[in-house]
Amino acid sequence: METIVFKCGGSILASLPDECYQILTTLHREGICQPIIVHGGGPIITALAEGLGVQTQFVNGLRVTTAEHLDVVEMGLSAKTNKQIVQKLWQEGGKAWGISGVDAQLLTSEQIDPQLGLVGKIVQVKTPIIESMLQQDYIPVISPVALSESLEKHNVNADEAAASIAKALQAKLCFLTDVDGVQTNDGIEHELNATVAQQLIDSEVIYGGMIPKVQSGLQALNHGVEQVCMLNGTQPESISAWLNGEQVGTVFVHKQKEGSVHATNS
Ligand SMILES: Nc1ncnc2c1ncn2[C@@H]1O[C@H](COP(=O)(O)OP(=O)(O)OP(=O)(O)O)[C@@H](O)[C@H]1O
Ligand SMILES: [Mg+2]
Repeated sequence: METIVFKCGGSILASLPDECYQILTTLHREGICQPIIVHGGGPIITALAEGLGVQTQFVNGLRVTTAEHLDVVEMGLSAKTNKQIVQKLWQEGGKAWGISGVDAQLLTSEQIDPQLGLVGKIVQVKTPIIESMLQQDYIPVISPVALSESLEKHNVNADEAAASIAKALQAKLCFLTDVDGVQTNDGIEHELNATVAQQLIDSEVIYGGMIPKVQSGLQALNHGVEQVCMLNGTQPESISAWLNGEQVGTVFVHKQKEGSVHATNS
């Protein structure tokens, strides 16, 4: 059975229809695929930080994380959001197991840049932990907080975490977010390669949280992940459409397929 890492954006968690959880549990129950969920929690963390009077700053779509802010991140991600997804999946008849990258040191990180504070990039994924959850027939639900070699906790961008986990397991990768895909003046880019992505980033057509999403997706593709796509999670039927090979959302492609990038506009 193929394994698919679904990254659920914090952008959609509040508005995610029950059908989305239903589709994921059905895919699992019927043996169509083995889902792994990695989630964000941006808006929840921002709201929590505001409520607690903790300042939030972003650089290139990445949150600056102080020790105080990391506490808020853990509250928002590993506690509230993670358990909310786990509960929803059980309510839809699924078997879900929530875990953060800190638990069992599932995700090992190293600090990216002291300017960003306690923000890490993943250097190791303990795949046997995830494999053991899969063997016991659970849907792992992973919160992207990681532990460094020196056992310091790091906030990890959820898109990067999902891509690292997909790479480590050689699983497929699907970003579920709040837009239909990568939008340009000509509509949705149904196929996106690294050259076009860089042009769109340089011209600021791709900005903010879309930057790490596109970069992690392309990096996963370069590291052998067979299929990477971005879908609108608020329209869960797009998941089945993608699995059925229909043209939906944005599919990440290698550079040599450049000729097909604008196929939909011709
Ligand atoms: N070219 C683009 N096409 C579509 N959306 C874009 C583009 N450039 C930037 N965006 C923004 O990226 C957002 C999606 O990324 P964002 O990081 O906000 O969501 P997420 O990753 O799903 O959630 P979270 O970061 O909380 O996990 C869109 O809502 C949109 O505002
Ligand atoms: Mg994001």
